[in-house]
Amino acid sequence: MKFATKTIHAAQPAEPETGALIAPICQTSTYEQEAPGCDKGFNYSRTNNPTRERLEHVLAELEGVAHAALFASGLAAENAVLQAYLRPGDEIIIPLDVYGGTYRILNRVFQPIGATIRQFDLADATALESALNARTRIVWLESPTNPRLLVYDIAAIAARAHAHGALVVVDNTFATPYFQQPFTLGADLVVHSVTKYLAGHSDLIQGAVLARDAAVFEPVKFLQNATGAVPGPFDCWLTLRGLKTMELRMIRHAENAAAIAEALDGHPLVRRVYFPGLASHPGHEIARRQMTGFGGMVSFELDGTVEEVAAFASSRRYFTLGESLGGVKALICHPATMTHASIPAEARAELGLSDTLIRLSPGCENSADLVEDLLAGLAQLEAARGQTKAVATHAG
Ligand SMILES: Cc1ncc(COP(=O)(O)O)c(C=O)c1O
Repeated sequence: MKFATKTIHAAQPAEPETGALIAPICQTSTYEQEAPGCDKGFNYSRTNNPTRERLEHVLAELEGVAHAALFASGLAAENAVLQAYLRPGDEIIIPLDVYGGTYRILNRVFQPIGATIRQFDLADATALESALNARTRIVWLESPTNPRLLVYDIAAIAARAHAHGALVVVDNTFATPYFQQPFTLGADLVVHSVTKYLAGHSDLIQGAVLARDAAVFEPVKFLQNATGAVPGPFDCWLTLRGLKTMELRMIRHAENAAAIAEALDGHPLVRRVYFPGLASHPGHEIARRQMTGFGGMVSFELDGTVEEVAAFASSRRYFTLGESLGGVKALICHPATMTHASIPAEARAELGLSDTLIRLSPGCENSADLVEDLLAGLAQLEAARGQTKAVATHAG
């Protein structure tokens, strides 16, 4: 079964009792038992729920593995993996770029209870080899990363990590299973902020953990019930609905991202464009190899001041200034003050995360409108600079 067909048909037969083509939402907390301990496979919706289970099956199919567990948010999913595998004294390796919330949970929750976080450029094979040791429990990576869309060679990193007995966790939120299949590249666990492209409509918060191996999955599955950060059935139903158009959406997101990257690349007010589809992107060749497309996100550094970035980002016609990404409606974000503000300014500077970086999540709008909106914003900036200069000259 191909990807689009899976999103519509996998694990989604018509509802058996009534024949309803789209199975109704099982909006229930508990289930009637015929006798104590004798149920029909469901006994309490924190433990399991038919709507959630359907979605777990679909996500597992999309990532090509047998096991998936849903959580109330992407960070709850990450927490389950970290709680399952990171013990005091253990080490975790993360790349230069990770989602700000991942940085925060590691540095503010797991580091204080004894985990060591090593953060460096995972493209540096020598640095990776020398950092890996008997205490390394997890190598965690995103590719493309949030927010700079850095690309890492997942297969090469996984091979190195496995040689030292470490688990490889890939946050596949940005790439999505449509463009990248981390399990075929050696991942042991995949995490998702389902909130983003999988749900796709900026109308819910949800996360997922996937695994190929039952033994690797089991501790995470245990924590899903034991710690209880589960999504409600209605949100699972919304994701099932959103997923059915995922391929169509991803094709459009990627087309829009490519058109925007091309329009911004070389613009005099743009210092640098980050998009893996550009031949000049350092990870372009790896992306070509390990992805089937370049994804739907674009970031760029404005050649200007933080005030200009703020003015640009808050006055776009189609790009709404807001956190998050991956929805049908375009979003624009200033990572330094928004998604990555939880990384202290000095650490951001050390990691090379510029304060004039702008992250774009083009939606499913027409690319011509989106490009026009961005170019108009840059033209406004240029005009404003011209005016300031004229006033200064006049005053002088
Ligand atoms: C790459 C990535 N991973 C994880 C998360 C966390 O997901 P959530 O916001 O659903 O908790 C985000 C959120 O922006 C993200 O961008």
